[in-house]
Amino acid sequence: MKSRIKKISIAIILILFIAIQFFDVMPNYVAETSKNAIEKHYSVPQNVQQILKTSCYDCHSNNTVYPWYSKVQPVKWWLANHINDGKRHLNFDKFGTYPKDKKLQKLDEVAETVNADEMPLSSYTVIHTQAKLSAEQKSLIQSWVKSMKGQINKEILVR
Ligand code: HEC
Repeated sequence: MKSRIKKISIAIILILFIAIQFFDVMPNYVAETSKNAIEKHYSVPQNVQQILKTSCYDCHSNNTVYPWYSKVQPVKWWLANHINDGKRHLNFDKFGTYPKDKKLQKLDEVAETVNADEMPLSSYTVIHTQAKLSAEQKSLIQSWVKSMKGQINKEILVR
């Protein structure tokens, strides 16, 4: 009797697992760089851009580079949730649309979260080990944030 219940439970779990595979999620992807992307408005040195792309853009831009396991539910939902949440807080592809105060505030938060090892999320760097920031990369971000705030305060726009 017990083993029958076990078998039925496993069958139900399997069926549910297969059923949820049919729920699709819109991928976070657009073909072109947004005209509001941070690098279209301000100077972002190549080495900083590379760090942001590798360590932040999967959750804070309009383009995520998806790993193979992202095709499997419920992983797809879980990732979509993180990406939506991340983009709501900060989207580098929308940075140009933020009012001045918000730009400055977001940059402060970038410096803070990177310094405190809160970003990129540890649940992400466990798998994306290359996204982990070295001390050197962290200090690059700090000085870039400083120069960005200078640019924004003086409103020197690099177009
Ligand atoms: C795996 C997804 C992911 C990655 C990668 C990631 N973030 Fe985030 N980020 C989030 C999520 C989710 C939130 C919102 C919830 C939170 O604050 O934890 C967030 C919030 C933020 C915030 C706003 C904090 C606040 O107080 O509102 C900043 C700033 C930020 N991230 C910067 C970065 C930077 C810079 C990087 C790269 C060095 C990065 N993030 C990488 C998911 C991510």
